[in-house]
Amino acid sequence: MTDQNTMHWEVDYTLGYGPMDHIHDEFLELLAQLQEATDEQLPARLQQMEAHLQAHFDEENTWMEQTQFPPRQCHMDEHAAVLTSVAEVRVLLDEGNTQVCRSLTQALAEWFPGHTTHLDSALAHWMGKDRLEGKPMVFKPMTRI
Ligand SMILES: [Fe+2]
Ligand SMILES: [Fe+2]
Repeated sequence: MTDQNTMHWEVDYTLGYGPMDHIHDEFLELLAQLQEATDEQLPARLQQMEAHLQAHFDEENTWMEQTQFPPRQCHMDEHAAVLTSVAEVRVLLDEGNTQVCRSLTQALAEWFPGHTTHLDSALAHWMGKDRLEGKPMVFKPMTRI
């Protein structure tokens, strides 16, 4: 288990769009905290992760909608599916089922690389492109004396 977790930290998930990379750093930090949590710490840390994921996905969904990112629906659907799973696990954890929370933590660790490589990376590229193309370039005439 440790080896598998460690493997993820050795991978560079930087996508080149700063605001998204910042959110992903926060996700990886909270995931590490969830992986290292004692049974007693699980409820608080899952709550932190759920709040993070809500904000994380809201931010990406907003970027996709504001810029009319063409393949946004499948990306937004995947966000919604993850939030549904986390909410279900929160209820079970409240009933004392720590194992299901451990399984969710492992599932999130396995989900993130694929999601970020296939979906977030396309959005990061799009946002970089959108920002460059949307920014007016001003050429000032050179003053000759
Ligand atoms: Fe993301
Ligand atoms: Fe995403």
